[in-house]
Amino acid sequence: MHIYVPKECFPGEARVAATPETTEKLVAHGHRVTVESGAGARAHLTDGAYEKHGATIADDPKTAWGEADAVLKVRGLREHPELGHEADLMKEGALLLALCAPHRELDAVRRMRDRSISALALELIPRITRAQSMDVLSSQASVAGYKAALVAAFHLDKHFPLMMTAAGTIQPARVVVMGAGVAGLQALATAKRLGATVEVSDIRPEVEEQVESLGGKFIDLPMEESGSGEGGYAKEMGEDFLTRQRAIVKERLSHADAAICTALIPGRKAPTLIDASMVEAMRPGSVIVDLAVESGGNCELSEADSTVEAHGVTILGPSNLAATMPLDASLMFARNVLTLFEHVTDGEALALELEDEVVDPTLLVHDGEVRHEPTREALDEEGAAA
Ligand code: NAI
Repeated sequence: MHIYVPKECFPGEARVAATPETTEKLVAHGHRVTVESGAGARAHLTDGAYEKHGATIADDPKTAWGEADAVLKVRGLREHPELGHEADLMKEGALLLALCAPHRELDAVRRMRDRSISALALELIPRITRAQSMDVLSSQASVAGYKAALVAAFHLDKHFPLMMTAAGTIQPARVVVMGAGVAGLQALATAKRLGATVEVSDIRPEVEEQVESLGGKFIDLPMEESGSGEGGYAKEMGEDFLTRQRAIVKERLSHADAAICTALIPGRKAPTLIDASMVEAMRPGSVIVDLAVESGGNCELSEADSTVEAHGVTILGPSNLAATMPLDASLMFARNVLTLFEHVTDGEALALELEDEVVDPTLLVHDGEVRHEPTREALDEEGAAA
């Protein structure tokens, strides 16, 4: 197959969906890989490195888009500043692997449907053991969780570790992590390695053991029912519960130096776990890093990609922390993409098995049909309203 790896045009996106390492593997399978010049540059992967591992650098990006049987991307198809909409550049019936953000990018979904593009939306990969090696949400959340702890440490007015110096003893920073999924556990592990003491709040009882095994303290909540929902995810809790949770967390935050927020409910707005009064109760100089900001935020005052100062507290809402570590984030992303690509190809050709437990939920659009039900409904509603 002819595979194309374009340069990302999403603002601030520094990752790339194939690396020289994964290119070499694709070429070894008999595929032809073309890379847009500079596609890996922001991840410090040079055109020369791709060429050395068997890729060709595209002479003309428009032609390369149109010739490809498969396109590997980090972000879904969008309006390119020079070339027009990327969906219109793709060959009819070609395959796309990318984070398609179907709930936000309905226009791209419609265009892909109309051009019979087959799109594997990487955020729809099921959280099952078999798909773990293809799961970009996990690999990128792990990068973001690590970086969130570093960002908190960087912005804090004190040390993370206990310091015993000739100038006296400095107490370690106290960090509260909201949400102990992939990002939260990595933030916990990183903050612990930096010497902080870490408390963690989550509503899924099964994570208590994971938190403790990483040296964190689990904040007990008065759970009348488990917060565990389908597929290992959390379920949405009622406002009464969240009010009780906020009261408990407020007390913990009033003694804390930093909060790292990672709590999410799939397909819903992120729960508000830190309101304005809780920020006010925090020590001036403390820091909140809100990774949930793209889904509405866990902190009421956070704003996407902005720094908010309130009551002396610095509140950061980075929406794409993984892209601030583009080399490792790309290495992991590209390996996930390669594994999924190998899963849907049979030797040299495309072999999409629609009933397959990974392909079925991930294949957003195929053969002129939107297969993902919530997206199909959203498109129908949009059509009815027009
Ligand atoms: P996520 O990003 O959807 O949510 C992050 C965390 O927020 C979750 O731990 C959730 O319980 C928590 N949360 C939700 N509401 C909260 C509240 N009110 N207060 C405090 N915390 C709250 O979750 P993520 O990181 O995507 O993974 C969730 C779980 O899925 C993992 O712990 C794991 O069990 C499972 N998983 C399985 C995989 C596989 O088998 N392939 C891969 C990745 C995750």
